[in-house]
Amino acid sequence: MSPCTFRRSQFFVVSQSVVLAVLTLFGLPTVSAEKQPNAQDLLKQMTLREKIAQLSQLPGIKIPGFPETNESPEDVARKYGAGSVLWIPDSHEINRWQHLAVDQSRLHIPILFGLDVIHGYHTIFPAPIGMASSWDPKMVEAAQTIAAREARAAGIQWTFAPMVDIARDARWGRMVEGAGEDPYLGAAMARAQVRGFQGTQPGATDRVLACVKHFAGYGAADGGRDYDSSYIPEELMWNVYLPPFKAAIDAGAGTVMSAYMDLNDVPASGNRWLLHDVLRDAWGFKGFVVSDAFAVHSLITHGYARDSQDAAYKAFSAGLDMDMASGTYLESLADQVERKRITMQQIDDSVLAILETKIRMGLFEHPFIDESRIEQVLNAPDHVQQARIAAQKSLVLLRNENSLLPLEKTGKKFKSIAVIGPLADAETDLLTMWGSMTKPGATVSVLKGITAKAGSSINVEFAHGPNIHRDIPSPFEDLPISAMKEQTAQTAGEIKKATQDAVALAKRSDLAILVLGEIDLMSAESASRSSLRLSGGQQELLEAVVATGKPVVLVLVNGRPLDISWAAEHVPAIVEAWYPGNQGGNGVADVLFGDANPAGHLPVSWPRATGQTPIYYNHNRTQNPEDDPEFTSRYWDVKSTPLYPFGYGLSYTTFSYDNLKVSQATAKVGSSIDVSVDVTNTGSRTGDTVAQLYIHQRAGSASRPVRQLKGFQRVNLAAGAKQTLHFTLGPDDLQFWSPATKKWQVEPEQFDLWAGADSTAKLHAEFRLTE
Ligand code: NOJ
Repeated sequence: MSPCTFRRSQFFVVSQSVVLAVLTLFGLPTVSAEKQPNAQDLLKQMTLREKIAQLSQLPGIKIPGFPETNESPEDVARKYGAGSVLWIPDSHEINRWQHLAVDQSRLHIPILFGLDVIHGYHTIFPAPIGMASSWDPKMVEAAQTIAAREARAAGIQWTFAPMVDIARDARWGRMVEGAGEDPYLGAAMARAQVRGFQGTQPGATDRVLACVKHFAGYGAADGGRDYDSSYIPEELMWNVYLPPFKAAIDAGAGTVMSAYMDLNDVPASGNRWLLHDVLRDAWGFKGFVVSDAFAVHSLITHGYARDSQDAAYKAFSAGLDMDMASGTYLESLADQVERKRITMQQIDDSVLAILETKIRMGLFEHPFIDESRIEQVLNAPDHVQQARIAAQKSLVLLRNENSLLPLEKTGKKFKSIAVIGPLADAETDLLTMWGSMTKPGATVSVLKGITAKAGSSINVEFAHGPNIHRDIPSPFEDLPISAMKEQTAQTAGEIKKATQDAVALAKRSDLAILVLGEIDLMSAESASRSSLRLSGGQQELLEAVVATGKPVVLVLVNGRPLDISWAAEHVPAIVEAWYPGNQGGNGVADVLFGDANPAGHLPVSWPRATGQTPIYYNHNRTQNPEDDPEFTSRYWDVKSTPLYPFGYGLSYTTFSYDNLKVSQATAKVGSSIDVSVDVTNTGSRTGDTVAQLYIHQRAGSASRPVRQLKGFQRVNLAAGAKQTLHFTLGPDDLQFWSPATKKWQVEPEQFDLWAGADSTAKLHAEFRLTE
C-alpha cells in the first residue's frame, strides 16, 4: 500500500472541513455539506473502468492522436464519466458535455473542465513575460483574479497556468509564457498568479484551480528548440529551475502539469525523481499531476517506453495521476492492474485525489453553467480598465535619446505621424496564441490606440510595410479553436513596393512610429528560432525609414528579446510592448503620449546577438572574467555583456539610489538582515521605479552566482520625493543547494549587496554571516 494514500486523503478531509468552516464564517459562497458526496464512498462504488476514466482527460475537440477505438471521448464520458475534458472554450458545449457525465454516466460524477487561460479568458492581459516586466505582483494577482472570474463564469474550472519555466535562451519560443530568467522574480510571479486564480478557496464560484507547469526544466531545451531534451545538473534544478514551482505549490496550487521533454535522459512525464521524490516527498504536494498533452503516449516516441502498456505503467508509477488527451491510460492501465504491475491501491490513491479536487471545486453542487450570466461577467467595465493599466505597467522603455518620448498631443511639435509596420494594425497578434484560443474580447491595435490619442490635432496615417511569416508554418495555425493567421508570403517585388510606400509615408510625416516584431505564431509553443533578427523585411524597412532623417520611435511587439543592436544605436526611442493584450494599443498610446510613465523592467537579459544566447545575469564568475585586464571577453566579435541587462528599464523621470545600509555588519547563520536604501525621484515627473536588491556570496562550498536577485519593490514617487525602502534577507534568501553537500545550507561567509534599478546596480554594501 502506498503511504501516500492516507496522507493525501486525510489532508483533504481535514482541509475541506476547515475551509468550509472558515468560509461559512465569512459568508463566502461554498458547497453545501449535504450536496457534498464522500470521495471514499464514491470510490467504493466504482469499477476499474470508471476509475481509469477519472484518471483521463479527454479532448473536447476532434484531434489526431486520440486512439481510435470503438469508444469516442463522448462515449467514454457517457458510459464511465471522465476526470476532465479540455479545449472547449464554448460554454454551451461545456454544458452539453457535463450533461453526458452527470445525467447519463452511472455514478453521475461531474467533469472538471480545463483550458489554457494563461493571461485572460475574455479580457486578455499582457503575455506573462509582459506581466513579469511590471514587477508588480499585486497587479498580476488582480489580472488573474479577473481571468478566473471570467473563465469560471464560462464553465472553466481549471486553468493550465501559471507557466513558471525559467527561460535563459530567447531562441525558445515559450519564453513568452513565463516570467523570464530569474528564480526569485519567477517565484513572486508564480505566487501572485496562484493567488489570483485560486484566491483562498478555488471552489468559490469566481475562482479556478491552478495548474503549475511544465514540471520541470522545459525552458532549458537543448539549443532553445522546443520539446528537445534538457540536461540540467541537480544544483541548477534546485537553485534555478525548481524554486518557482515550489513557490506555486506553497501558495496552494492544486495541480501540477508534467513537462514534455526528456530531463537528464528520463522524460519528465515518466520521471519519478521529479513527480514523486521532489514533488511529494520533498515538498509534500497533495494535489494531482496531469501530463502535458499526449505526453504519456510520447514516452514511446522518446524511446523510454516499449508500447502503450509500458507507457501507462511508467507514467503512472512515476506519479502521474491524469493522462492528458493521449488515451493511453484508458487503453492500457487496466491491463497493468490485471498484471499486478500497478496495485488497485495506487489507482485508488490517484482517483481519490481527483474526486476530492472535484468536491473541493464545488462541482457536485454546481456542475452546470448559468449561461444567462456569462456576458455580464465577461463585459464588466473594470476588466477593460485593468487590462489597460496592466498593458501600461508591462511596457519597458529601452531607449529614449534626447527625451523624444513622451510625444506631445497638441500637434505643435509633430503635426503628422506615420504609423508603420506589419504589427501596427495587428489585433489578435497582440494576444499570443493562448489569448486567441479562449473567447477574447475586442482588441485595440497600436494604430487604433495612437489614432484615438492623437484625436483631431495630429494626422495619423498607416503603412503596413512588408508582410512577415514563418519559413516553416506553425502547427497551431489550423487548430479548430485558433483564430491565428499567418501573413501571406510576398514576392520580392511586393516587398519592395510595400517598403517604398512606407518610406514615402514617413517622408511626408513629421514622425514615424514603427511597430515591428513577431506575429503570435512566431513566439509560442512550437515556435523556436535559430536567429533573433527582425524577420522578413523588417530590418530593411527600419533602416530605410531611419534614413529619411525623420524622428523614429520603435515599438516592439514580440515574446522574447530580438536582435535590435542596430536599432539600439540608430533609433532614438525604443519601447518593448511584448504582446500587450486586448487593451494593448491603448496602453502603448498612453505611454507614447505620456499619459502613463513607463516603469516596466526586463525580466530577461537582452542579448546583443543570437550567438550570445543563452545569456543570464546570475552566472558564476569564470576564471577569466570579462573585467580581467588580459582576458577581457569570451567572444572576440561581441562583448560578453547583454545589450540591456536583466532588471533594466527607463522612465520619463530619473531616480537616484543612496544610503544602502545593513542592520548588522555581522550576523549569525540563521538570522535575518534588514537592509534599507533611499530612493529619490530626481526628475520632474511622478513615476514608478523598481528597486532591486542583489546579493553575492564571496566563497563557500560551491561557486556562487556573481549576483542574485533577493528583493524588489515597485514604488511610486512624485517629482522630488524620497522614500526609504526596507528589505529583509532571511535564511531562505541566503541559502542555496550545495552540490558539495547535496543539501540546502546557509554558509558563514562574506556577502556583497547591491541596490538599484537593474542588475548592474553599483550602490554597494556588505555583511558577514558567522557560525
Ligand atoms: C500543450 C502545452 O505544452 C501546454 O502548455 C498546454 O497547457 C497543453 N498543451 C494544453 O493545451
